[in-house]
Amino acid sequence: MRFFVPLAFWAATVSATAGFEGRRYDFAVPSTPVATFNDNFTSTTEAIASLKAALSANASVAAPLSLQYGSTVARVWPKQLETWPEAIVYPSTPEDVSIIMQFYSKYHGLWDEAFAIMCGGHFSSGGAQTKSLIIDLQFLNAVILNDPVDASERAIVKIGGGTKSGHVYDELDGTGWAFLGARSTTIGTGGFTLGGGIAYQTGRYGIGADNLVGVEMVLLNGTIIYANPYNNYSDIFWACTGGGWAATIGVVTNFYSQAYPDPGEVQVGAFVYSESKKDAVFPLVNNFFENNTDVNAFPAFVYYFKDPDYPSAVAPITEREFVLQFNAMYFGSIEGFNTSYAAFYENANSVSVTSYSLKNLKEFLSSNYPYGQSTIFRGKSHTNVSNDLWENTLSIYKETIQGLLARGEDPANSLWVSEYMYPNWNGAGASNDSATAWPHSTSAHITLSSLMWSNQSNANYVDERDEVMMDYLREYQAGVDSAPIYDYPNYLAPYSKPSEVWGTDNFNRLVEIKEKYDPECLISRGVVIPTTACQSKGLVNYSLDN
Ligand SMILES: Cc1cc2nc3c(=O)[nH]c(=O)nc-3n(C[C@H](O)[C@H](O)[C@H](O)COP(=O)(O)OP(=O)(O)OC[C@H]3O[C@@H](n4cnc5c(N)ncnc54)[C@H](O)[C@@H]3O)c2cc1C
Ligand SMILES: *[C@@H]1O[C@H](CO)[C@@H](O)[C@H](O)[C@H]1NC(C)=O
Ligand SMILES: *[C@@H]1O[C@H](CO)[C@@H](O)[C@H](O)[C@H]1NC(C)=O
Ligand SMILES: *[C@@H]1O[C@H](CO)[C@@H](O)[C@H](O)[C@H]1NC(C)=O
Ligand SMILES: *[C@@H]1O[C@H](CO)[C@@H](O)[C@H](O)[C@H]1NC(C)=O
Ligand SMILES: *[C@@H]1O[C@H](CO)[C@@H](O)[C@H](O)[C@H]1NC(C)=O
Ligand SMILES: *[C@@H]1O[C@H](CO)[C@@H](O)[C@H](O)[C@H]1NC(C)=O
Ligand SMILES: *[C@@H]1O[C@H](CO)[C@@H](O)[C@H](O)[C@H]1NC(C)=O
Ligand SMILES: *[C@@H]1O[C@H](CO)[C@@H](O)[C@H](O)[C@H]1NC(C)=O
Ligand SMILES: *[C@@H]1O[C@H](CO)[C@@H](O)[C@H](O)[C@H]1NC(C)=O
Ligand SMILES: *[C@@H]1O[C@H](CO)[C@@H](O)[C@H](O)[C@H]1NC(C)=O
Repeated sequence: MRFFVPLAFWAATVSATAGFEGRRYDFAVPSTPVATFNDNFTSTTEAIASLKAALSANASVAAPLSLQYGSTVARVWPKQLETWPEAIVYPSTPEDVSIIMQFYSKYHGLWDEAFAIMCGGHFSSGGAQTKSLIIDLQFLNAVILNDPVDASERAIVKIGGGTKSGHVYDELDGTGWAFLGARSTTIGTGGFTLGGGIAYQTGRYGIGADNLVGVEMVLLNGTIIYANPYNNYSDIFWACTGGGWAATIGVVTNFYSQAYPDPGEVQVGAFVYSESKKDAVFPLVNNFFENNTDVNAFPAFVYYFKDPDYPSAVAPITEREFVLQFNAMYFGSIEGFNTSYAAFYENANSVSVTSYSLKNLKEFLSSNYPYGQSTIFRGKSHTNVSNDLWENTLSIYKETIQGLLARGEDPANSLWVSEYMYPNWNGAGASNDSATAWPHSTSAHITLSSLMWSNQSNANYVDERDEVMMDYLREYQAGVDSAPIYDYPNYLAPYSKPSEVWGTDNFNRLVEIKEKYDPECLISRGVVIPTTACQSKGLVNYSLDN
């Protein structure tokens, strides 16, 4: 067993810069173990047994029909992506991950499909699924808080690469610090951070990736490295700021992120209106989106198909109707909440306001996003709001729900939402579009189609309808006067265009980085971008031709 001394070499900080820029943090990483295998395998079963024998005592390997295996399959959120791999390996330390990568880079030829890396298993474009071996990182879930170096800095939290956000909320509760994590608790910090990271207080503190100061990563040859924006692995660090599961080149075993002060109280309001009130509601929403100046107010405007008077009931389909819901969060007191959202009370069919702390807030979103459904989680962004925007998106949404009903589906919690983002991320974002892999120096409101179905023959219908929504939003944004904006990576669709998600330059840079560190295209599940090797293996499914 190797021990890992979390030595930190704090460097002088440069203040008054956005995000991580100007902040240099160096952390030590464990030394790379040397693994040897009996490489006369005659079957994958033998190979897996040899891998297991090389791992630490707390690591494990699960075979089909074991409870542990079933628990990993059950973590996959989009039902249509469930896969049954030959085995699932659970590393318990970064050194275990190194041994797995050394094994994989030697013996990958034994399998037809590449190994997959799983954190939370929620990404609707895949990546964590394969028929060969899934590397389930859930044991790598330590959360360690490093106190701030001085009063002008924030604490740095070290988060294991397999950690679900709910676990981090639990661990930080009572420390006075919070972190920019996924809002539903079962989402992995891995996919979330590598794909950008829209957190509860992103409007005030920027996206998850803006707060990343370094990553510990195991490369394909097993070398354990530390990447920050200033060292020899700055290209890897850069890829992790929103392009990390597109240019997948290794396994992130630890994220180092700036924490932020725990806001204490959180108010969660839901203002629900029947559709007939839309002419009164749209202007209220427009006024909020255009004029809000309180960084602690973070709402989202949602379309649902449910009972407006009993919004949390599971109503029979025949009693549901189209409703508009203003999900109004406020990080601070109820008085602050009422100041921000006063106008929303008047016409509501129902209003609920509940106080939470970050720790107990964690379950509130999960009921919107149940397990066991075939589902997508995709969207585009927009800078401006207008009655037209809402009229048109609502009518596209309604037609989709009606289409699902006509196909015998229960639309369940199928929803469309525009998530409000504070202008310019309150100055906490990146200073320019090449500073991070996901260009986001201009902030935008982020929409999401979360549509559900059960009969697989309706999957194409859902894609078609979501494309109609995306096409409309593309056209709408083209008609407003705004600096370029880019769609949110974690809400990627197979038909999203790389030029609209990462921009052509950043996308090409991601391809170069993958080319450099994964020259054989060994990590090739989910989103596969066009390196030479990925192309010649015929594995590319996401390129500038999309
Ligand atoms: C119900 C629900 C709620 C959501 N809420 C939010 C939200 O509040 N904010 C937001 O921004 N997004 C949200 N998302 C989107 C979510 O962030 C993305 O789907 C994200 O990619 C999921 O990460 P994961 O680790 O759970 O998924 P996974 O499917 O496990 O991983 C996604 C991709 O990242 C790779 N990966 C994961 N961890 C690592 C690692 N440690 N090293 C290398 N590669 C890794 C995987 O191989 C895969 O390609 C939500 C999604 C769902 C379904
Ligand atoms: C593989 O080689 C090892 C020694 O390197 C030996 O102990 C083992 O029996 C061999 N296994 C097979 C299946 O040949
Ligand atoms: C294995 O896990 C146990 C319980 O979490 C822990 O006490 C022990 O130190 C771990 N052993 C190793 C070798 O990591
Ligand atoms: C790429 O292919 C995988 C299947 O391997 C699929 O799950 C994923 O949605 C595809 N991604 C894109 C962007 O097309
Ligand atoms: C990169 O590595 C070289 C060789 O180890 C070292 O001399 C150089 O200082 C490093 N550069 C940075 C920016 O860390
Ligand atoms: C924003 O506020 C200004 C000034 O009060 C007002 O004129 C404008 O109509 C508001 N915008 C919207 C969309 O309501
Ligand atoms: C908030 O506003 C609502 C509606 O006006 C009111 O009923 C409630 O008492 C207010 N709460 C506080 C704490 O002011
Ligand atoms: C963008 O930001 C990065 C990181 O701070 C910086 O290195 C780079 O010079 C900036 N580029 C431009 C064009 O301003
Ligand atoms: C799924 O939909 C198809 C096409 O409408 C239909 O033929 C089939 O019976 C449905 N399957 C189930 C299980 O409902
Ligand atoms: C969009 O908003 C920007 C500023 O937020 C404004 O300058 C521009 O005029 C708006 N465009 C339209 C078409 O409303
Ligand atoms: C492992 O890969 C990295 C990046 O490609 C390379 O710099 C390093 O030299 C390799 N290490 C060994 C031991 O081959």
